[in-house]
This record gives sequence, C-alpha cells and structure tokens, in this order.
Amino acid sequence: AFCTSVAWGGCRVSRFVLVCPVPAALRVAMRESSLEAVRGDSVLLPCSFFTSSDFSRLNVIWTLAPFSSPGSPVQVIVYDHGQVIKNPSLIGRVDFTGLPFSADIMLNETRVSDGGIYRCMVNNPPDTADPGVGELLLSVLEPPSLPVCDWDGAIDVGGSVRLSCSVEEGVPIPEIRWEKVSPVEISLPVNMEGELSGSVQIVNVSSQTSGLYRCSATNVLGTENCYVNLAIYNTAPGGPSGVLPGVLLTLVMALVLLALLVIILWLHRTGQDGRSRRRRRRGDRKAEEEECYNEIRYTPSLMKRSFV
Ligand SMILES: *[C@@H]1O[C@H](CO)[C@@H](O)[C@H](O)[C@H]1NC(C)=O
Ligand SMILES: *[C@@H]1O[C@H](CO)[C@@H](O)[C@H](O)[C@H]1NC(C)=O
Repeated sequence: AFCTSVAWGGCRVSRFVLVCPVPAALRVAMRESSLEAVRGDSVLLPCSFFTSSDFSRLNVIWTLAPFSSPGSPVQVIVYDHGQVIKNPSLIGRVDFTGLPFSADIMLNETRVSDGGIYRCMVNNPPDTADPGVGELLLSVLEPPSLPVCDWDGAIDVGGSVRLSCSVEEGVPIPEIRWEKVSPVEISLPVNMEGELSGSVQIVNVSSQTSGLYRCSATNVLGTENCYVNLAIYNTAPGGPSGVLPGVLLTLVMALVLLALLVIILWLHRTGQDGRSRRRRRRGDRKAEEEECYNEIRYTPSLMKRSFV
C-alpha cells in the first residue's frame, strides 16, 4: 500500500517494502436479512463482525424498532466494558450467545410484539466502524385464535339474518371465510368489517336457510373454526304441520268474534239500559283482538340458534 498522505507520517522502509500503519476497519455482517419465528419459539439473531484489534474496548448495542411503533426504537441488549445490560422488559428472554467473537443474540419465548427491525451496532476502538451497523427484520408469526361467531336479524320468514365472525389474534392476519356446511356445502360471500371480522347477510330467510354455518380463520400457521346452527321453522316447534295450528287459531278467533257479535246484538235489543254495558263489551272485544293478533304474529316462524 502507498501512503497517500504524509499526515500519517509513520511509514518506514522495512526490507525494501513500504509499511504504513493503516487504521483497521471493523465490519459488521448480518448473516440473515429477515427471519421468521413462531410465537413462543426461540430465535437466534445473528450479527458477525470482523476486527483486527483485541476485544478490550468492544461495545455492542442491539436496538429494536418494533412494527407497532417504528419511529421509536428501544434498546434490547448492550455489551459495554465487559458488562451486559438488558432491557428490563426482556430480562430472562434475551442473551448474547457468542461474545466476544460474535454479537449474536438469542431471543426466547418470542412474542408478536418482538417483531420489527433489529439493528446490531458494534464498536471496537481503535478500529473504525465500516459500517459498524447491520439490520435484520424479525417477524413473529402466530396461529389464528378461536374466532367468535354470532348472528342477529329478523326471525320471520322473509326476514334477513346477519352472521358475524371475528378473530382476535393471528399473524399474518387470518383470512375469514364463511361456509354453509350442512345439509349442503356452499361457500358464502363475506363482507369484511375491518381486517379481523367478516359477516354474511342472508335475505329472505326460509326453511331452506336452516343448517350449520361455519366461519374459519386461516393463516399460514393453521385454521380455527366457529359455528352457527340456524333452525328456521315455518310452524311452532313440535307442531305436526304448518297448517293445523294456524287453522285452529283462526277457528277459535272466529268463535270469539261470533260470540261477541251475538252479545252486542243482544245488548242492542235490550235498549237504552244496555248502553253503558255495551261500551264496556266493546272494550273487551278490542282487548281480545289484540291478544289474538299477538299470537298470530309469533306463529309463522320461529328461529332457534345454538353455538357449537
Ligand atoms: C434461551 O433458551 C436456551 C435454550 O432453550 C437457553 O440455553 C438460554 O439460556 C435461554 N436464554 C435465556 C436468556 O433465558
Ligand atoms: C322470498 O322467498 C320466497 C320463497 O322462498 C319467494 O317466493 C319470494 O319471491 C322471495 N321474495 C323475495 C323478495 O325475494
């Protein structure tokens, strides 16, 4: 090597070779640029460095810019003057594995919140760092949690029902799917509400709507399901057929109305004295009509639900 500057000043001739005290450079090399771990597993974050000096003044700093707050990196672990200092929230989970020859660290019982960009900074004076920093992206994956299925909507035949499904956890974000699984398997169009919940709208409900519905939350690590069982009856449950109870109810109502009519006619015939009583009877009749009307309203359909 030629000395390009006399400012270095220390060149000497040794056995016909020009020898200059060139300052050594420390170089950091990341053996991986990105890593994936499954939540709960251990992961080794590699950081190699090359230096020509001894390790007496070695200094290593690992920082993390978490995915949740990339703008505010935190210190993970530091090696300085022979001492190791750990982030209090990581004590018991992180340690150097190869000091002083490598700056690798091991992270145990990984959590999703450990995901982010890790930087490994190494200094070893008097070496100059060139560059003394390496970066590594860590993703911590987790399987979907058990989704929660629910439904709401109109219970009458011809009404509409909404099936909803939401999942709390999962990295990558789980895909939500709705299917009818019995009596026939059909895949249903899902309306996503945010990233973690999806619903299905069923309009014009009929007895054909009855069946078992499954919501599945899937990512690369697996699938979790929840179910809704819809049973839609055209009659009151337990009735032998859809027609008979309705017919009976109509007959009963007709008889009551007929009786009232007879009473009113009879009161009318009895003359002036019957007026006050007649008014009272009308009131009774109105109340009875309301009662019957309510009963009819409940009759046409009944929907049962259950969660599995
Ligand atoms: C992490 O786990 C490994 C092996 O499972 C163990 O040897 C190491 O001591 C653990 N590190 C910490 C900081 O607990
Ligand atoms: C609802 O369904 C019934 C039978 O399933 C059908 O006759 C009717 O036309 C449907 N109504 C609408 C609005 O789709």
